Amino acid sequence: MSLIGEARIAAEGTSAAWDAEVDDTLVCREVRQETHDVKTFVFSAPDPRLFRYRPGQFLTFDFLIDGQRINRCYTIASSPTRPHLISITVKRVAGGAVSPWLHATMRPGMRVQAVGPLGEFTGLAHPAPKYLFLSGGSGITPLMSMARYHDDLAAETDIVFVHNARSPADIIFRDELALFASHRPNFRFVPICEADATGEPWTGFRGRLSLPMLRLGVPDLDEREIFTCGPAPYMGAVRVMLAEAGFDMARYHEESFDFLTLQAAAPEPVTTLVASAGFTVSFSKSGRSVVCPPDVFVLDAARAAGMRLPSSCTKGLCGTCKSKLASGTVEMKHQGGIRQREIDQGMVLLCCSKPLSDLVVDR
Ligand SMILES: Cc1cc2nc3c(=O)[nH]c(=O)nc-3n(C[C@H](O)[C@H](O)[C@H](O)COP(=O)(O)OP(=O)(O)OC[C@H]3O[C@@H](n4cnc5c(N)ncnc54)[C@H](O)[C@@H]3O)c2cc1C
Ligand code: FES
Repeated sequence: MSLIGEARIAAEGTSAAWDAEVDDTLVCREVRQETHDVKTFVFSAPDPRLFRYRPGQFLTFDFLIDGQRINRCYTIASSPTRPHLISITVKRVAGGAVSPWLHATMRPGMRVQAVGPLGEFTGLAHPAPKYLFLSGGSGITPLMSMARYHDDLAAETDIVFVHNARSPADIIFRDELALFASHRPNFRFVPICEADATGEPWTGFRGRLSLPMLRLGVPDLDEREIFTCGPAPYMGAVRVMLAEAGFDMARYHEESFDFLTLQAAAPEPVTTLVASAGFTVSFSKSGRSVVCPPDVFVLDAARAAGMRLPSSCTKGLCGTCKSKLASGTVEMKHQGGIRQREIDQGMVLLCCSKPLSDLVVDR
């Protein structure tokens, strides 16, 4: 069925909602070039589905690339106020396994699989009359979803959106954010650039975000609920700035895309457990075996033994470490990164599963 046909069915109120327990296939409908190294990929379900999610949430995609299944999380940059389509906006990371592939390969008509929506980083959980959104680089996506949501609803919410980019040519969603600012008196867009772009000298705030800059751009900083997303050093700097400003950190919320940060934030695996007593976990594809005590997560035991397994959030949320358990049983405490029907098929999240017996993992 054509998308127009799908939209018509949806408009007439007969579309079903996307059900994360059942639906997992998305069809690419459009690819948009946002900046020189950022593209937006727009998806719908193969049959009409209305996407329900909270602005700021993400999907975990399961890509089949050169015969390998690879999971990556991408924020839904679109707004649930436009439920027929969802979009993700992806920066091409040099040397990466997925983002260069998406940029080079993903075309309208191609299908991908995705789990979600997932995640707790959303303004809906923290209603406030005034928000400050702080983003760096591709960290703009969850905040863009929130900004689009408020704009579509003509909400009275007061938003200041401060975004850091390398140069004016790197400002993602620049025209759309400028449009929001031009038609909404209660929306301000404050882009900050580190350098000029070729052919476009930058006349706005220049350099990295600093407290004097923040105070100048957002004098009522203390009255705002703050949401931040960006590279780890950027978010670290923001936290230091806000602490210096005496900001009430109960009203500060952040999300990291940064694999290494998330890994660093995770409890360190205890390397002494490599040879200690516990259950034997055998990895059938790599041929490796590790010992995992009953109170240790399988992922931590494998990492402690020097294995590199796919993982991201390390807290049962993103689904990146999802693996098939060929035999054995585990105690798993996840936070939504796996569906019941996957559990029924013998899948587990290694980052939040402790062994109850010897295990064979299909990795
Ligand atoms: C909740 C969440 C939401 C996200 N939302 C977005 C979003 O909206 N937009 C977006 O662009 N990204 C987003 N991300 C990040 C995204 O999931 C990917 O991490 C990102 O696209 C890079 O993936 P990749 O496969 O291209 O790179 P990867 O293969 O993960 O590689 C990343 C970097 O590590 C290097 N590297 C890889 N393997 C090694 C190795 N063995 N040794 C040394 N270096 C290595 C690569 O060269 C590259 O520079 C999000 C992440 C999370 C957790
Ligand atoms: S690493 Fe995110 S669910 Fe396991």
